[in-house]
Amino acid sequence: MSLMTAKDLDYWLEHVRIYANNGEVADYIPALANQQPEINAAAFYALRGECYTAGQFEYTFTIQSISKVLSLALALIQHGENAVFSRVGKEPSSDPFYSIRKLELEDPGIPLNPMINAGALSVTNMIRGRDSDEMVNELLTLIRRLCDDETISYDEKVAKSEMETAFLNRSLAYFMKQNGIITGSVEELMDVYTRQCAIKMNVKQLARVAAVFANDGRDPVTYKPLIPLTVARICKTFMVTCGMYDYSGTFAINVGIPAKSGVSGAIMGVIKEEGGIAVFGPALDQQGNSVVGIRLLEKLAEEKRWSIF
Ligand code: DON
Repeated sequence: MSLMTAKDLDYWLEHVRIYANNGEVADYIPALANQQPEINAAAFYALRGECYTAGQFEYTFTIQSISKVLSLALALIQHGENAVFSRVGKEPSSDPFYSIRKLELEDPGIPLNPMINAGALSVTNMIRGRDSDEMVNELLTLIRRLCDDETISYDEKVAKSEMETAFLNRSLAYFMKQNGIITGSVEELMDVYTRQCAIKMNVKQLARVAAVFANDGRDPVTYKPLIPLTVARICKTFMVTCGMYDYSGTFAINVGIPAKSGVSGAIMGVIKEEGGIAVFGPALDQQGNSVVGIRLLEKLAEEKRWSIF
């Protein structure tokens, strides 16, 4: 394994930029539809080291499904493994992230894993708080610690846009409420979930989150524990088995690192004991993963021998 340099990141992002238009920008959340495919960025946050950046690294995007890893970490911290895994499973689904099919087929009807929308809704439903504001604040408090940045917040426009159009997610939530997996108000849950998905970061901040996982839950600079080791390990395992949705198997073969994507076009990747990487490029492939992001991670993983397998 050769260490990452600033030059490598620049070179390979430039190299994969030709794919920037080889996909579709997500438009089922209206506020995401006008993202520019030409805006690409990457950051690598080395443990005890520097953060390298490339492209439009100051551009902020919403983290969307990447938030599922962080809400899972929070639920595990607050309630422990037994409670969390009584309401969400541990197995990959091989269905698209928004699928409802398996909820009816599986017995008991808990969602298969926390990385698909149904599973993430069940996890978010567990976050402590008297109301949706308190629940969002619990999550933001954790994320601000991981980013070492008190300014991290959510994009109100994107949250509102998803809230107005998330009929499928509402269906998943109501189905699970009927089966006793989700409790309380579905609208309140949707309010938390859409704000969670709309949390805004740039690639540098996201790479730092990935670096915490690369460092087994410790701060990448001070090595102070931020997430318990077992929680970090569980999150990373889900990233390997389900982080890239129904592309997770191919990604494990081609890249071989724990990673999580979001429909905004962001991906975070974890390079064990070395650092965290974040890539942004809004054009998506059929599975909902950033085309530029996948290409960049494939190139770097090959070049740097990142695969854990
Ligand atoms: O719930 C949704 O559909 C979005 N807020 C997040 C989905 C997502 O990011 C899937 N990613 N590839």
